Amino acid sequence: MNDVRGKAAEAENISDDNDPCCCTECDDEGLSRRAVMGYGAAIAAVGGLGLSGTARASEGPLNMPVQPGDRFMITRGKMKKTLLTADLLETGGKPVEGFPVTPDTNEPRDVYRNNRVLMLKLDTASMDAETKGLSADGNLVYSAICTHKGCTIKSWMKKQQHLRCHCHLSVFNPLSGGSVESGPARRQLPAVPIEIDAEGYVVAAAGWTETPGAATK
Ligand code: FES
Repeated sequence: MNDVRGKAAEAENISDDNDPCCCTECDDEGLSRRAVMGYGAAIAAVGGLGLSGTARASEGPLNMPVQPGDRFMITRGKMKKTLLTADLLETGGKPVEGFPVTPDTNEPRDVYRNNRVLMLKLDTASMDAETKGLSADGNLVYSAICTHKGCTIKSWMKKQQHLRCHCHLSVFNPLSGGSVESGPARRQLPAVPIEIDAEGYVVAAAGWTETPGAATK
């Protein structure tokens, strides 16, 4: 743990916003409601993607976990509102945050808060076999929700190529299926197996490898 703490200065913030955390300790219920309000503008802005821009669809589909065929929308930073394509991210660069979107209307499935994902691109040659099976052209999609107590993971350790949760400093290895490098988390980060569709978009090849979210015991 001391080694991890000592490397704190090497970590980059994935997101600089003050979005409420969804960990079980913060008791903050604002994420879903705020996300719903925020994405109204995003949806209107991407009318070329087949959206009406007038109202969100029934929240039913938006409260479902990621589904096969879903694309992924970046929801923070300079590429906000962009759908992830195979060549968008820099290999080894900082992950970006987002949500899966419905294939018919490109609406973020953000009512189900544990759908929040981190998208990143890594060197395929450095991945273990399990991770290669989850990836497409080096792209990977992991849960952004720490498996310890549910904080949103916000730090990228570029040198080590690790994700770190700021709450209690659990470290996860995205080159090894999201395995736990150091706790207190005990469970690896769930992932979404992905593939590239005919238009070059990253899409879900299947649902979550495991249920995302905080440990229940
Ligand atoms: S919530 Fe405790 S380490 Fe992430």
